This record gives sequence, structure tokens and C-alpha cells, in this order.
Amino acid sequence: MPMAAARRPKIKHPFFARLYPRINAFAEAHGGLDHRRELLADTEGCVVEVGAGTGANFAHYPAKVEKVIAVEPEPRLRKLATGAAAESSAPVDVREGRAEELPVPDGSVDGVVASLVLCSIADVPAALAEAARVLRPGGRLYFYEHIRSADPRFARKQRRINLVWPLLAGGCNLDQDPERAIEEAGFTIEHARHFDFLVNGRTTPSSPCVIGVARKPES
Ligand SMILES: C[S@@+](CC[C@H](N)C(=O)[O-])C[C@H]1O[C@@H](n2cnc3c(N)ncnc32)[C@H](O)[C@@H]1O
Repeated sequence: MPMAAARRPKIKHPFFARLYPRINAFAEAHGGLDHRRELLADTEGCVVEVGAGTGANFAHYPAKVEKVIAVEPEPRLRKLATGAAAESSAPVDVREGRAEELPVPDGSVDGVVASLVLCSIADVPAALAEAARVLRPGGRLYFYEHIRSADPRFARKQRRINLVWPLLAGGCNLDQDPERAIEEAGFTIEHARHFDFLVNGRTTPSSPCVIGVARKPES
């Protein structure tokens, strides 16, 4: 095991892991299901999904996806993901692991999927470097994330709420700029759709969102 891996603490969020299936069901009933379908529509070949949670994406991979390696560090969520994999039409292999040290060889996959997960990863640059490592040249990173608002007033509100939010939401950080991090990791963003994920017409602290695709350079 590399030194960095040995130093990273185990990820266990029993409270959040109990709550998340309900939070996700609520979000999916208010538009989240369509977001998952949009995120995954163009995935193909062999895909790594980082931080797969309960496996809520598995049912939405298109037929052109030959294999999904789903990495999830949290034990309770991983168990739920294993159950979801058994019911999925796409072949899904659920593995213990974390985004910063993916249990996958270099250049071996066509796509990496990150959905609502960069917000929860302790070392985002390390996770994106790992995504680049496992992708083949020209491979794609598919991302769906809530983001820091472009509206300074709303962003200030997110920063204030963020003082307690991570404690309740399994380490989730509201004050994030995933597109910037993705570009800093050497990817080229091919497209990104920004939108407010409203619940019954209302904003929530995690309403500002992006769904996009970024490409690893060919060489
Ligand atoms: C909000 S949930 C999203 C789950 C799932 N991706 C989805 O779309 O529903 C955040 C997930 O990130 C996972 N996570 C937290 N830290 C992680 C890390 N360092 N590497 C990989 N996954 C991580 C959590 O265990 C949890 O499953």
C-alpha cells in the first residue's frame, strides 16, 4: 500500500449513510433522476464510478457501457451499492476504495463518473489526478456536482451554512468550484450545463449545479 494510502483515515459516515437513501429518493423525485440520465447518456465502454453511494446511477447506464467499476469507501453505502449492482442490467463490479487511490490500472478505462461526489472528497486534486491516471488518452470525465453560486450573495450564504453542513452531510462541502479543479487537473471541459436544482420551486443551499463532460488530453 502506498504511504499516502496508509495515512488516509477510513471513511465512515454511519449517520449520513442511513439518511442518504431517503435524501436521494427525495432528490430523484424532484428532478434528480433526469440529472442522472443526462449525466450518463453518452457513457460507453469501461467506466469507473467514484463514490458510487447507494448505486443510484447503476440503472441509468446505457447499453453501450460494457462494464462499470464502482468504487465506494463507506461500508454501509457500499453494501447498498452491491445490492443495486445485482439488479442492474449493466455489469457492475462494486469495489472498496476511494477516489484518491483507485483500485484500477493506468489508462484502462474509457470514462470516469463523478456524481455529487467531488464535494465530499477530502483531497480533490489527488482524486482528479487519479481519474486522469486510470483514463485512456482522450477518455472522458462525466461530472454532476453542486457548486458555489455565481451570485456573490448566495455564495456568502453557502459559506455560512457550510460551517455546519459537512457535519450533517457526510463531509459534503457547499463552497466548491469543481470545474476549476477539473481544469487545473489538466482536463479540457467539452461542455457544462449550469442550472439551479429547485425543489418545489425553491432554492436550497445545494441548488446551483453543473452537469458536464471533460476530456483527458490525447497525449
Ligand atoms: C452525496 S454522496 C453521492 C453518492 C453517489 N455518487 C450519488 O450520485 O448518489 C457522496 C459519496 O461520496 C463518497 N465519498 C466520500 N469521500 C470519498 C472519497 N475520498 N472517495 C470516494 N468516495 C468518497 C461517500 O461515501 C458517498 O457515497
